[in-house]
Amino acid sequence: MNRRKFLQTSIGTILGASVSPFFLQNAFSRPTKTVREFRLSASVAKVNLGQGPDFVAWTFNGQVPGPEIRVREGEVLRVVLKNDLPEGTTIHWHGVPVPNLMDGVPEVTQKPVMPGETFVYEFEAKPAGTFIYHSHMGYQLDQGLYGLLVIEPARLERSYDREYSLLLEDWVMRDGGGVAKIMRRPPLGPQNRGWMDGGVMGGSAPPEGGESLLEPYYDGYAVNGRLYPAVEPIRVKKGDRVKLRLGNVSSATIYDLRLAGHTLLVTHTDGNPVRPKEVDMLRIGAGERYDVEFMANSPGRWLLAARDSGFGEDQLRVPVVYEGVRSGEPVLPDFPQDLRLNRYKDLQALNPEKGPGGTPNRYYREVLGWRMESPHWAINGKVYPHSENLSVAKGEWVHVEYFNHTPMPHPMHLHGHFFRVVNTSLPPELWIKKDTFVFDHLETVEVEFLADNPGRWFHHCHNLYHMVDGMANEVVYKS
Ligand code: C2O
Ligand code: CU
Repeated sequence: MNRRKFLQTSIGTILGASVSPFFLQNAFSRPTKTVREFRLSASVAKVNLGQGPDFVAWTFNGQVPGPEIRVREGEVLRVVLKNDLPEGTTIHWHGVPVPNLMDGVPEVTQKPVMPGETFVYEFEAKPAGTFIYHSHMGYQLDQGLYGLLVIEPARLERSYDREYSLLLEDWVMRDGGGVAKIMRRPPLGPQNRGWMDGGVMGGSAPPEGGESLLEPYYDGYAVNGRLYPAVEPIRVKKGDRVKLRLGNVSSATIYDLRLAGHTLLVTHTDGNPVRPKEVDMLRIGAGERYDVEFMANSPGRWLLAARDSGFGEDQLRVPVVYEGVRSGEPVLPDFPQDLRLNRYKDLQALNPEKGPGGTPNRYYREVLGWRMESPHWAINGKVYPHSENLSVAKGEWVHVEYFNHTPMPHPMHLHGHFFRVVNTSLPPELWIKKDTFVFDHLETVEVEFLADNPGRWFHHCHNLYHMVDGMANEVVYKS
């Protein structure tokens, strides 16, 4: 059974998706919205990635990743979450600007859903794009509680012949996944390799007070819950335009992805359409999504493969197989120096959108720090919940300048809003929209966002180990 069929089956029957009319509160309006209902039950289950050992993970509906949820823009998405885990949980709709009470952040927007309890998430699915959903409780993301959420556009945007979705996952293949506590120091930039002396690999004691600076030693990089060579290949026919929806649900890994024999055309970042841009290699940070296309014009057997941007190890591999091509080992991409990357400053919005560019109403500066300032991953020297919040009022444009004062890249994520990434070489209408951006050692990134979604919104590094350690604060609306 191919993945598409399987997903249709699993969503259509196993999940018991149902469609029913949704009546607006106004008694005079006609029923206009379709409700699409899905059931997710969070439970502990034994899994296998098609290679390597069986181990116990935390799952939605007993599978990793959780089922793919697909709805159409403008429909009402209703998800009934049943918690069969031994502890509380929530679901966060990463990237979707949902109403605050549906945002799924424990103790910020809701009480955790306790074992045996049920919680109903419901919101209008918009805008169109590639999103992810995941637990926002502790380390549950790294134990397997995540899946893909696709909001299909109300009107077709671009046509293509085939579509595949690929969730990129980092695994510790032991019971409990990322909480198995086999920790290593984080991947530092090449200039800092000396610090990685290997003393922490394999679980020896971390340095005094520095435990929080560690992240797991991953031993399985999976795509859609499968490790190469068990991973399902991307099957194409010569002449096809192939769309890939890529979502990085890894808890700590940033990938540099490349497809041997082909270039990739970036069409969307974090769900938002960009003017198509050809790249040789795609960098995708934890929490980011990209839609890319490639033209199947080079028959053969190829690998889409990733290298960890920090450790430089080989990781994910997905075969691309042309119809009618039978034999031969699939070809790995090489990673020479001068590859064209998806740098944000080379991307521009497809549809100009007015907004920023005047004088922002507020300015904030967020300095990401570590170790030099504290034994923790911190923002402006403080750790959550003691960090400074960003206070905003509805209707304001907020300018945020980030500076990365640590030796490694961080994927920063804001809930409930899209950033416009400041790009002084473009008119502001063309600044790309993102909800997660990754930036490197000593880099500065400036963004502006419109405060148009009142509430308390979590804002944090999407490296889970940094987030839990305290590299987080909140955007809080004044009442
Ligand atoms: Cu995908 Cu606050 O997270
Ligand atoms: Cu971080």
